[in-house]
Amino acid sequence: MKIIIINGPNLNLLGKREPETYGNTTFEDFFEQLKKDFPTVTLEYFQSNDEGKIVDKLHETGFHYDGIILNAAAYTHTSVAIADAVRAISVPVVEVHISNVSKRESFRHFSYLSPAVQGIITGFGLNSYKLALYSFLNA
Ligand code: DQA
Repeated sequence: MKIIIINGPNLNLLGKREPETYGNTTFEDFFEQLKKDFPTVTLEYFQSNDEGKIVDKLHETGFHYDGIILNAAAYTHTSVAIADAVRAISVPVVEVHISNVSKRESFRHFSYLSPAVQGIITGFGLNSYKLALYSFLNA
């Protein structure tokens, strides 16, 4: 099973960025632990602050991986291009958020991606990624 986690803008700063909302752990540390926790899964990680690079990565991986875990961060709420890319590919995508976006500012309540994805996991901290991974394993 081959799964890629794609993270959007500012998620490279996890651990330093608004720790009261996003926690104190860097994604790199979390990812190392995740690989140990799921030794049978081939896990990849990609992060970009650039909308076009996220679209490119979806195209690149979206026809032959087993699953994509996508936290498009702020682009969730703005990007028709990423939503179209999710619709264009055949690999199932799970939308993930660290924080509970429904509990936050109203502009975070709308997602261009949600109607295009298989499912949504939001509000469980970094464990949201783990839950998304379980969803592919139990599919
Ligand atoms: C986020 C929520 C988004 O609203 C925000 O722009 C992010 C992170 C989350 O994981 O909670 O950057 O996707």
